[in-house]
Amino acid sequence: MRPFEGRRVLLGVTGGIASYKTAWLARLLAQAGAEVDVVLTKSAREFIGAVTFEALTGRPVHTELIAEGHALDHIKLARGASLMVVAPATADFLSRAAAGRSDDLLSACLLAASAPVLLVPAMNDRMWAHRATQENVAHLRSLGYTVLDPEAGPLASPHEGSGPGRMPEPERILAHVGRMLEAREALAGRRVLVTAGPTREALDPVRFLSNHSSGKMGVAIAEAAWRRGADVTLVAGPLSIVPPPDVRIVHVESTEQMAAAVRAELPNADVLVMAAAPADFRAKKVADGKIKKAQRPDSIALENTDDILATTLDARKKGAVIVGFALETDDVLKHAREKLAAKKLDLIVVNDAREAGAGFGVDTNRVTILSATAEPAELPLLSKHDTADAILDRVQEILNGR
Ligand SMILES: Cc1cc2nc3c(=O)[nH]c(=O)nc-3n(C[C@H](O)[C@H](O)[C@H](O)COP(=O)(O)O)c2cc1C
Repeated sequence: MRPFEGRRVLLGVTGGIASYKTAWLARLLAQAGAEVDVVLTKSAREFIGAVTFEALTGRPVHTELIAEGHALDHIKLARGASLMVVAPATADFLSRAAAGRSDDLLSACLLAASAPVLLVPAMNDRMWAHRATQENVAHLRSLGYTVLDPEAGPLASPHEGSGPGRMPEPERILAHVGRMLEAREALAGRRVLVTAGPTREALDPVRFLSNHSSGKMGVAIAEAAWRRGADVTLVAGPLSIVPPPDVRIVHVESTEQMAAAVRAELPNADVLVMAAAPADFRAKKVADGKIKKAQRPDSIALENTDDILATTLDARKKGAVIVGFALETDDVLKHAREKLAAKKLDLIVVNDAREAGAGFGVDTNRVTILSATAEPAELPLLSKHDTADAILDRVQEILNGR
């Protein structure tokens, strides 16, 4: 089943230059299974044709508030919609929406809608920075609408230069739509802390000890928790992939820094998922200068780094769900069971480093989830995204039971 099957999205388009990108958004929504009803303002029709949206959505496009045969379109369109999105939302539309106007079809739909609303402003950077626009946005947020901040970057015309005002790419808007459709019954209002990636332990100013972790599993968990409505913080070592745009990121380098970041964030977290692969050893003494080739030491004395889960036991919020990961090569389940008990975890996600398609760098994983109370759940080979969802399903069950 496609993710938005059975959902009807009311997509408003206003007269901004970014409206050309909304054609792609309409297509993405339709591909995801949504029924998409498009409403164009009068100005939007100067930028992009109704026929384009009609062809992409397979449904009639709406433009008039007062027209024969279309009386009460605004009520019919708004009623029963799962979500209303306005992209791009012009400065003018934001001001009409903030004032509660209803003298065009789209503003009237907004007033008549009872579904969640996502507004995606896009405009010249000075128009966005103007106090009038900022006050309208603050007011619209206070009414419960989700208003995305525009992105910084080159604006439409070469004369405009660069600044905050660009409409986010359709794929990013689609992610927000998914989150708003999904978030209602899932992790909305929960704070989820995720660690991801490797850490690095310096040997000298230019060399370090680390491991092959890419951060893919932790990033997939952060994204999945965000999609379920959680307020997500990702404590990230040096990742090999681009981190998700809408989660808060705390960048760290060493295991000690990662432990400190977790300790600082943990008292507020409802869930901690430790998907990082922190370095277990560090040099007893980091050389002040670069170790020269000619001075190659025969050995480098190492010591253990802090065990993050052990050093953060005290900082755990009462009732928080703690999930650890274990990458083992021998006696996989036995070692994982010991770790589960020793570190007082609710769940431990185990994989065998030697199994094909699981572990570092790849997009798939095959894990077994152990819990203190239930039978082990052996999952098949799944994408890291599906693995993340399976883990969060169990986290939610535990949270709901507390
Ligand atoms: C070429 C051109 C580009 C425009 N781009 C934007 C824009 O990106 N954002 C914006 O807020 N207004 C933009 N405007 C101004 C709006 O079109 C104008 O405020 C209009 O009244 C908006 O009407 P609507 O909100 O009903 O669609 C642009 C105008 C022109 C002529």
